[in-house]
Amino acid sequence: MNTASAHDVSRQPRLADRHALLTGAGGGIGAAVAAAYLREGARCSVVDLADQAPAPVQELLANYPGQAHYIAANVTRPADIERLIAEASERFGAIDILFNNAGIFEMAPLLESDEAMFDKLFAVNVKGSFFVMQKVLAHMVAQQTRGAVINMASQAGRRGEALVAHYCATKAAIISYTQSAALAMAPHRIRVNGIAPGVIDTPMWEHVDALFAKYEKLPPGEKKKQVGAAVPLGYMGAPADIAGAAVFLASDEASYITAQTLNVDGGNVMS
Ligand SMILES: NC(=O)c1ccc[n+]([C@@H]2O[C@H](COP(=O)([O-])OP(=O)(O)OC[C@H]3O[C@@H](n4cnc5c(N)ncnc54)[C@H](O)[C@@H]3O)[C@@H](O)[C@H]2O)c1
Repeated sequence: MNTASAHDVSRQPRLADRHALLTGAGGGIGAAVAAAYLREGARCSVVDLADQAPAPVQELLANYPGQAHYIAANVTRPADIERLIAEASERFGAIDILFNNAGIFEMAPLLESDEAMFDKLFAVNVKGSFFVMQKVLAHMVAQQTRGAVINMASQAGRRGEALVAHYCATKAAIISYTQSAALAMAPHRIRVNGIAPGVIDTPMWEHVDALFAKYEKLPPGEKKKQVGAAVPLGYMGAPADIAGAAVFLASDEASYITAQTLNVDGGNVMS
């Protein structure tokens, strides 16, 4: 009897021999995706703001010795972007996969939202994300890697919200840059896609819940309960719920998929 079944084949690590760079991966979705990439055999350069590797990254470094390293960098600083690409490629070679994930959340009623909030959100979510993507794409073209980029959008980029105008606009920009970059990179066979999560229970949601509590006069924790119950599948996602899509889009299984932003949201947005 032939024991090499399709089941066995599906167990091959899907990202073996790839080098993935992940931003904003000190916790939340980014750390869960880093864990999945490591399980699938990738070498990972894990980037976040803190000087020292945050606890979830320490755990990954311990569980996958020699397969991951941590780089402290701020994606809003051009010099940091150059440095993180140099450090990553020096350690693990040319970058094959970018999980472009660093992001922040703020909100306020439209008439009260000021220029400082606008600048802060666009600096990280749009300018930082765009220039990380641009510099990594230039590196991928120069190194002739058959690269895959996954940009972190959001369901907030699909539809406006009265209290969340700037964050929604930053994520709509990510969806648009994903499409333009995919077309620009198609001749190089580099794929650029996005993921649009719905509501995912991460450290960011503590902040989101507190802001909704303030503006909608809700008890703490209530907004989280409400948004979870409103998801067609009936619950808030966990960071690991994003990992399957992030592995798939990075892998050869998605070799004919580019310029798309995939909703991973329990059914919140329909396409
Ligand atoms: N949690 C959700 O419900 C949800 C939904 C849709 C989209 N997203 C997006 O997913 C991404 C990850 O969010 P999360 O929920 O895991 O939140 P998180 O706050 O746990 O993770 C974001 C990470 O980005 C890092 N970061 C922030 N500014 C940075 C900078 N200037 N340079 C480098 N790193 C920086 C933070 O330190 C943090 O570790 C974000 O882009 C967020 O907008 C989250």
